[in-house]
Formats: sequence, structure tokens, C-alpha cells
Amino acid sequence: MAQLIPAILTRDPDEVREKLQFLDGIPQIQEVHVDFEDGQFVGNTTIMPKDLWGTKTRLAIETHMMVAFPQGYFHDLEILRPKRVILHYESFSNVSDLIASLQNLKAMGFERGVAINPQTDVTVSDDLISYADLFLLMCVEPGFQGRQFIPESLVKLAALRARHKDAIIEVDGGINLDNVGSVVAHGADRVVAGSGIWQTPDAKQTIQEFLEKLK
Ligand code: DX5
Ligand code: ZN
Repeated sequence: MAQLIPAILTRDPDEVREKLQFLDGIPQIQEVHVDFEDGQFVGNTTIMPKDLWGTKTRLAIETHMMVAFPQGYFHDLEILRPKRVILHYESFSNVSDLIASLQNLKAMGFERGVAINPQTDVTVSDDLISYADLFLLMCVEPGFQGRQFIPESLVKLAALRARHKDAIIEVDGGINLDNVGSVVAHGADRVVAGSGIWQTPDAKQTIQEFLEKLK
């Protein structure tokens, strides 16, 4: 059974707290995906790890770092203590720097993910598989919620799965009730959804429908 991880992307700390409180009330949801954007790596800005210090939730947090220099946030992440930290392959000018950061994150006790943008080839995963606990395949250009799923993502997803049979693969961007079955059929273990939940008339009901489809 694939896992649903709701995504929160906002520059308003109150919205994060409201959404966390809402998700806290849904027992089948165990984890939340929080997006961080610095206005450089992508053309949008959000809250940063510091803004979440002291926030109470029963959910495990995964942080998706869409920033130009992720290492600059490691200290703040150590205080926040998310379960998982996801770095972008594209934030690094060379693979050895990315590997060094992944090793640092492990030493800090975090699970580690590597996110891959739509224009990045999935073959880059080969050098990283021993240093990452999961891959996050972006199915939209990162930056905003509500973007349309890029259909070629399914080909990339199947290719990534074929390269790494046992890897954990998460998909992020443009996932909704209509395409979730297809991404799971192409090899996704975990599904991140933002607008596919929040921009529906009844988010609670939508989550239940997602969970039904993921059974
Ligand atoms: C996009 C973010 C996604 C986003 C998902 O840049 O990384 O996690 O919150 O939102 P939807 O599901 O609306 O694409
Ligand atoms: Zn994300």
C-alpha cells in the first residue's frame, strides 16, 4: 500500500499550524511534507525551518528544501528535528558536495532524500543510491502548488524504478485523485499531494478518497 503525504507550502506560519492541526485529526495520516523555498532556487518564498520551531504536531515532518544553499539551514533543522530532510540534486554544483551533505544529515540522525527536477535525468540517482533513503521525483517544476502534472514523469518514474528495484520512490507535484492510481502503478511508494487535497471542496473527504485508492 502506497503512503499519502499531504504537502504544506505557504509563507504564512499560521496556515502551517492550521493545516497541521487539521491533519493531526486524521488518524491514517502519519507524515506531512513541508516545502521550503528561498526565492533563489525557485521563484517563490515560503516559511523557513526556524518559523516552525516549537510547533506541536503528532505528525512526522519531512522537509523539502527548495533552496540554493541547503547547508545553510542544517543548524535550524537540527533544532526543528524533522524525521526526514530532502535535498535537491540541482542545489549542488557537484555530486561530492551533495554526498557530503547527505552524510552530514545522517550524522545528525535524519532520514535523507534526494529530489530530482523534471529536466534532470534519473541516471543521476546511480551515484546517490547508497547515500539516500529515498528519491523524490518532481512531477512539476518546483515552486508552487496547483501546477499541472507533467505526463512524461510517468516514464521517468518507471525508469527510476527499473534502475533501483528496492529504493523508496516518492512523487511530488500535480498528484490528484485522477492520476494517483497511475503513479502508483508506475512505481511510486509514497505520494505527496498539495492542491489535490487543499483545493477540493472537502479536504477531509478527499484524503479518505486518496486512502481508498492507495489501498
Ligand atoms: C512544489 C512542491 C510540492 C507542492 C505540491 O514545488 O514541492 O510539494 O507543495 O503541491 P501540488 O500537489 O499542488 O503540486
Ligand atoms: Zn515538495
